[in-house]
Amino acid sequence: MADTAEQYRRFAAMEARGASPLYEQLALGVAGDRDLLDLLSALPPAKRQPNLLFAATRYVSGTPSGYDDFRLAVLANRDTIVATMLSRRTQTNEPARCAALYPLLASLPQPLALIEVGASAGLCLLPDRYAYTYSYTDPADAHTDRHGHSYSDPHGDGPVGAADSPLRLHCQVKGTPPARFAEPGPITVAWRAGLDLNPLDVTNPDDVQWLRTLVWPGQRDRLRRLNTAIALAQSDPPRIVRGDLTTALAGLAAQAPPSATLVVFHTAVLYYVPEADRATFVEQVERLDGHWISQEGPDVLPDITARLHQPPPSDTVSYVLALDHEPVAISAMHGGWMDWSARG
Ligand SMILES: C[S@@+](CC[C@H](N)C(=O)[O-])C[C@H]1O[C@@H](n2cnc3c(N)ncnc32)[C@H](O)[C@@H]1O
Repeated sequence: MADTAEQYRRFAAMEARGASPLYEQLALGVAGDRDLLDLLSALPPAKRQPNLLFAATRYVSGTPSGYDDFRLAVLANRDTIVATMLSRRTQTNEPARCAALYPLLASLPQPLALIEVGASAGLCLLPDRYAYTYSYTDPADAHTDRHGHSYSDPHGDGPVGAADSPLRLHCQVKGTPPARFAEPGPITVAWRAGLDLNPLDVTNPDDVQWLRTLVWPGQRDRLRRLNTAIALAQSDPPRIVRGDLTTALAGLAAQAPPSATLVVFHTAVLYYVPEADRATFVEQVERLDGHWISQEGPDVLPDITARLHQPPPSDTVSYVLALDHEPVAISAMHGGWMDWSARG
C-alpha cells in the first residue's frame, strides 16, 4: 500500500503538477486515503496507475469537481470502475509526439515503410498527414509551461510536412540540431502498419470516448488536437494488428515493401514491457534491415540514456529520442518541445 501511495505522490509531483491541477489534487488525495488505497491494492500492480483510475472514473461518472466528489464517485461506482480498469489500458495516443519524430523520419531515404509498435489508435502512425512548426526559442520562456502544454509560435518558420493539414503541431526547439535533422523536408509514406496488444479503433465510438477520457481535465489544446487527429484518421484509418511487440514484429516487418525504407518506431510504450522483454525486442528490431526510432522515458532504455552528455530534466517527465540506438534529443512527454543540446 505504501508503494501505491508513493506512486500517486510521485505522479502528483512529476506529472500532474503544472499540467492538471485536478489530477494533482486527486493523486495527493488518493495517496492519503486508506479506502481508495485498499481498493487499489486488490488490483494487479499494473492496474493501480493513477491515469487508469482517474480515466476509468471519468469514463463511468464524468469529471469530478474535486477530491470529495471523486471519492464519492469511486465508492458509489466501485464495481463498474474496477471492471473498466481491468478491461481498459492506459493507451493515451498523443499525435503531438510526431513533431519530435518528424526530423528523424525526414532524414531517411524516402519513401518510408512505417511500423509503429504500441500504436494505440495509430495517431502517431500518420506523421505525413500533419503540419509542423518549429520555433527556436528557449523552452523555458513564457510561451510554454514545463510540460509544453500551452505554447505559441512567435518566431517560427512556416510549416513543414502536410502544410494544409487541419492539424498543425507546434514544437519549441532548444539547442542546435545536427545538420541532417536541421531542415526537415517532406516525407512520403509508402506503407504503414501498427502493432498493439489492444488496438483501438478510431471508428468505434467507445474507443474514441476512452481516448478522449485519457486526456487530462483542463487540457483543452490536447483534446482539440486529439479530436482533429481522430477525424483525420477516420477518413483513412491506419491498419493496426493485434499482437505483442516481442513476438509479432518480424512477421509484420516481412510484409513491408522492400523498395521502401523500413522504420520501426515507438513512443511511450516500452515502459509497459518487462525489462527482459525489452531486451528481446531490441535484439529483434536491430536484426531487421531498416531503422529504429525510440522515444521513451530515460529509465526505459538506460544504455541509450547513458550516452546523453547531459541528463534529462529531473523535475518533469521527458523522453529520450534516439535513432538507431543513438540518442539525438530530449522531447516532451506530450509533445510541444524538444531539446537537441543533451545528445551525446
Ligand atoms: C501509452 S500508449 C502510447 C501510444 C502511442 N505510441 C503514443 O505515443 O501516442 C502505449 C501503447 O503500448 C501498447 N503496448 C504495451 N505493451 C505492448 C506490447 N507488449 N506489445 C504491443 N503493444 C503494447 C499499449 O496497448 C498502448 O496502446
